[in-house]
Amino acid sequence: MANIGEDTTRKLIESGEIKPGMKILDLGCGAGNVSFLLSDYIGADGIIVGIDSNEKAIERAKERSKELGLSNLYFCVGDITQDFKMEHSNFDAIIVRRVLMYLPNPQNTIAAAIKYLKPNGIFLAQENNISQTPIGLESMPQHKRINDLIRETLEKENVNFNMGIELNTILTNSGLKVEKLWAEAIVSTPNQHTNWAFLAQNMKERMLSHNVINDVSELELETLDARLTKERMENKRTFITDLVFYAIARKA
Ligand SMILES: C[S@@+](CC[C@H](N)C(=O)[O-])C[C@H]1O[C@@H](n2cnc3c(N)ncnc32)[C@H](O)[C@@H]1O
Repeated sequence: MANIGEDTTRKLIESGEIKPGMKILDLGCGAGNVSFLLSDYIGADGIIVGIDSNEKAIERAKERSKELGLSNLYFCVGDITQDFKMEHSNFDAIIVRRVLMYLPNPQNTIAAAIKYLKPNGIFLAQENNISQTPIGLESMPQHKRINDLIRETLEKENVNFNMGIELNTILTNSGLKVEKLWAEAIVSTPNQHTNWAFLAQNMKERMLSHNVINDVSELELETLDARLTKERMENKRTFITDLVFYAIARKA
């Protein structure tokens, strides 16, 4: 399974002093992409607990840990919008990637989550800010069309397009001390792919359910990546697809 943004998440993990033997909570873990990255850093003596409301994603995460022979990763189904309860506690660190932007009240979620974090524990966040991107997409109709469909779907899901910009305030108001916050522009060039064909493939059911498309065939998924590549090559364009914000915070 593709792990979009693996390199950037590794930078966050490495800057965030994640060490062997740590016990880490992966909030909104999905199919476990962040947990599996983290497992390289915490070793066999560490523990990762992932929680997500999507039952299918949790099943997939469990299957993947079995396939990889990892017995120190635990995945559970749970809704983190509420004042959620966990069996595990005393975490050394919590990580959240591309989840806060989907939550109606991320501040409440973080305040509830950090009850399970040790004093002085680490909180790592990676969230996209999509209100000002893409930048430089003029004369790229294929790219524009697919990006519009993705954004329309996210809009219908009430995703916060400004989550990156708001991250510092949200973490601080949740009771964390933000030690470092930075952002990175994700750039596409003729040779450097966007992940939009992959995203369209992954989001097709959501696009259908929100009536953003009437039929999956409209996406022409079999040829989408090739068409996008051709358009980038022909236009010889560099453009910014995304802004990604990272934060390293600590529990007081
Ligand atoms: C874009 S995915 C990111 C998954 C994972 N963090 C990663 O980076 O690969 C967003 C995840 O947030 C989860 N999520 C959204 N709202 C949630 C909620 N209220 N409780 C638990 N998980 C939630 C979704 O099920 C989904 O798996």
